[in-house]
Amino acid sequence: IRTNTIQSLHEKYLKGIPITVSTAHDYITSQWVHDSNCDAILVGDSLAMTALGYDSTTDISFNEFKYHIQSVCRAQGPSMVMVDMPFGSFESSIQMGIANAIDIMKLSSNVASVKVETGPHTKDTYTIGFIKELCSRGIPVVGHCGLTPQRSHSLGGFKVQGNKRIEDITVLCETAKKLEEAGCWAILLECVPHKVANYITSNISIPVIGIGAGPGCSGQVLVIADMLGMTQKSLPRFVKQYGQLHSNAQDALKEYMKEVQESTFPNKEMHTFKIKEDLWKSFLD
Ligand code: KIV
Ligand code: NA
Repeated sequence: IRTNTIQSLHEKYLKGIPITVSTAHDYITSQWVHDSNCDAILVGDSLAMTALGYDSTTDISFNEFKYHIQSVCRAQGPSMVMVDMPFGSFESSIQMGIANAIDIMKLSSNVASVKVETGPHTKDTYTIGFIKELCSRGIPVVGHCGLTPQRSHSLGGFKVQGNKRIEDITVLCETAKKLEEAGCWAILLECVPHKVANYITSNISIPVIGIGAGPGCSGQVLVIADMLGMTQKSLPRFVKQYGQLHSNAQDALKEYMKEVQESTFPNKEMHTFKIKEDLWKSFLD
């Protein structure tokens, strides 16, 4: 199986083949995604909430996030890896943001791209410029717009974007266009009405990876902990659960505990080690 690249994903996009993306937050989940032959892995900062129990993606430190990037990158396989620029790693200054993007790229040769959340271009006058600087330095960027969890406070919570006022829809479409013009190789569009997502997808010439953006996007991404049912947390409407790992784990743990309590595990024949009879006798003597 050949490793996916920005170029191979772009070929799929041009052929109209939907691009598949899953997040991964550690070595194990990353290996699962590779072994499924998914097109790409996103090391999303949502791992702060799903895998680390934080209340917000803004809580994770850059160092903690880097530790998880490294863990994901130790798994090997065909999926292309892209990585979030976490909150606080690029907002202070362009220089600092560039240095941190380089830092992320250097964590592993498996990292093929960074992803940067950007607000509405009319209010967020900084991020498009920052993304331009990264692209002009040969650092591949996915521009994330729509619902951007790092900005949940300024957006008024985890809400659908571009579904109320004409000017919001206009600004969202312009922001996507500006991300393309800045040099992004793809856009991640989160939580917008499917008609708006279709409109954006047909009006730009780079792949649009959607989450909560309907079937008309060039591809889809889901958070692995959500789609595999790894926790019992309530899920957004746009998630479909393809697995029930939390309840599978509960069943397995309860069975283990029961067998320990009933002394049926470990089984003397299957799970134990033997010692030569004469050695044992001489020890007892
Ligand atoms: O952090 C993340 O997992 C993401 C996806 C929700 C797109 O950014
Ligand atoms: Na993210």
